[in-house]
Amino acid sequence: MPQQWSRQFPGLPRKVAEARDFVAALLEDEGPGPVEDAALIVSELATNAVRHTRSGRYGGWFRVTVGFSDDVVRIEVIDSGGDEEPLVRSVNASVDEGGRGLLLITACAKDWGVQDRPYGRCIWAELARVSA
Ligand SMILES: Nc1ncnc2c1ncn2[C@@H]1O[C@H](COP(=O)(O)OP(=O)(O)O)[C@@H](O)[C@H]1O
Ligand SMILES: [Mg+2]
Repeated sequence: MPQQWSRQFPGLPRKVAEARDFVAALLEDEGPGPVEDAALIVSELATNAVRHTRSGRYGGWFRVTVGFSDDVVRIEVIDSGGDEEPLVRSVNASVDEGGRGLLLITACAKDWGVQDRPYGRCIWAELARVSA
């Protein structure tokens, strides 16, 4: 990504809103673009990092990176890993199972995926920069 911004946050639930504001502000500065989708994506990914990985343990952190190319915005959330695996729950799963975050991302991102990192994972999602 030619232009990339990155910030690390304490792995606390209330820091998810800060991560969302960080991403939304960067996108707003770039003019018209998928601000709402980007904010939703980073909220879900940061929530997952805090809730499902070692990022949410004492002293934990997660890192958010936003990259811009001519036609794509790429959002990455790097967590500290753990026993759980990112899995998209089926649409038919019963409501009380929760689990809609990754499903939502599959619906609104152009592409997304998971990369293993030495001490955790990077979950990334790409959005088209200008919504038609
Ligand atoms: N960053 C992550 N690392 C490890 N496991 C994850 C991560 N994100 C999500 N998961 C796993 O994938 C499941 C589905 O995530 P999601 O769709 O966001 O639903 P929810 O967070 O409500 O359970 C989670 O329940 C969790 O087990
Ligand atoms: Mg979730």
